[in-house]
Amino acid sequence: MTASTQKVTNHKEYYEAFYNPKYDFLGQSYASMYPNLHKYPATMLPQIGLELLKEFKAKKTNLLDPYCGSGSSFVAALDYDIKEFIGFDLNPLAIMISKARLTYIESSHLLKQYKILLDNIENNMSKILDFNILNNITNIDFWIEKQAQKDLIAIFNAIISIKNETAKNLFMLAFSETLREASYTRNNEFKLFRMKEYESYIPNTYKIFNRKLKNIINIYIEFYQQKLRGINLSVYNSGFYNTDKKFDTILTSPPYGDSKTTVAYGQFSTFINEWLGFKEARKLDSKMLGGIKAKKLYEKGLMKEYILEIAKADNKRALEVSSFYENLESSIKSLPDSLNIGAKVFFIVGNRRVKNIELPTDEFIAEVFCNNGFKHLNTLKRKISNKSMPLQNSPTNKIGALSRTMNEEWIVVCEKL
Ligand SMILES: C[S@@+](CC[C@H](N)C(=O)[O-])C[C@H]1O[C@@H](n2cnc3c(N)ncnc32)[C@H](O)[C@@H]1O
Repeated sequence: MTASTQKVTNHKEYYEAFYNPKYDFLGQSYASMYPNLHKYPATMLPQIGLELLKEFKAKKTNLLDPYCGSGSSFVAALDYDIKEFIGFDLNPLAIMISKARLTYIESSHLLKQYKILLDNIENNMSKILDFNILNNITNIDFWIEKQAQKDLIAIFNAIISIKNETAKNLFMLAFSETLREASYTRNNEFKLFRMKEYESYIPNTYKIFNRKLKNIINIYIEFYQQKLRGINLSVYNSGFYNTDKKFDTILTSPPYGDSKTTVAYGQFSTFINEWLGFKEARKLDSKMLGGIKAKKLYEKGLMKEYILEIAKADNKRALEVSSFYENLESSIKSLPDSLNIGAKVFFIVGNRRVKNIELPTDEFIAEVFCNNGFKHLNTLKRKISNKSMPLQNSPTNKIGALSRTMNEEWIVVCEKL
């Protein structure tokens, strides 16, 4: 325990957590240090990742993130001089953001592609459009005004005719943000709700797109591009699988509960995932950790007493919660074979409350690692000041609002034996 850490928990702990104010990053937001190219729910503050890599002297060889989302762990590790990354995520949008943000393209080349894109858009405005793509979006007229639909098609067609994949991915982020902003979705929420005043909402789709596009290109060139020379990134739109590569570090923030009652990653990403032809866009949340209710209660290790306590109040909830821990356990168990001895693992997680019972997910993670050939090095507790999280464990899901139960985070650090 260092001078600045203090013990915080008073319930019986199997894996002690220590509060270290250094990790609060008080007054710093994500964007103040790492500007965003695209919104994403429940992102991990990269500042934390960088500090962890330094404090625990992680090797500078490579980094795996099995739930990589928008790639915050990778951007943290870039500043620690790691150059090789592998990421996995079930959400196609997450993969698109990570890839666009972490792939190098020469500025002059990007700007040339930008000019071609603007010319393409200009030309498309007068063309007869193929409306077929609109069939991808469920109930499109409920969500997007007619003229905006046409404008979106014209912009999208202009983007897909760009040959350079890296430039195209960056432009697609601007399209995705535009698709959301031009729709009738209430914009500051993760879940899909139509705005009350939708009939009077007539978006200027081209204007939105141009603003987003300029912003993304500026941020990419000013902030990310210089760091990306020589990096090697592979990201996969799937759950983690063994790629035969061995890693020295995992830095990740897994979901802290099922998507239905915590953060609806799938719902947040529905429009762009559907537009790009991802057939299971509406089922995505049920494919994520804890997405399908378990048939029996999870009764292993330290989580058993908590699950049984929930079951006393509500057996159905206990089965839902069981499914999350069962899935998280098997997901963690698939990792050790891909790690070298001495590899450091950093899991940043929230401990949610169900039926007013706080679930020690941090301790659960430490326990599963310890049962699978790791030693627990430390659990650090931090106060969240700026994370984008839902208001409660409820469908409200307001971006930027903090949940009463989620204003702290735990960082579990383990080492492979
Ligand atoms: C807390 S978020 C990660 C956020 C990321 N650290 C960032 O800053 O953008 C958790 C991620 O896990 C993904 N996810 C959920 N279940 C998964 C699974 N079984 N396999 C892989 N990814 C999963 C979600 O799509 C989501 O992007």
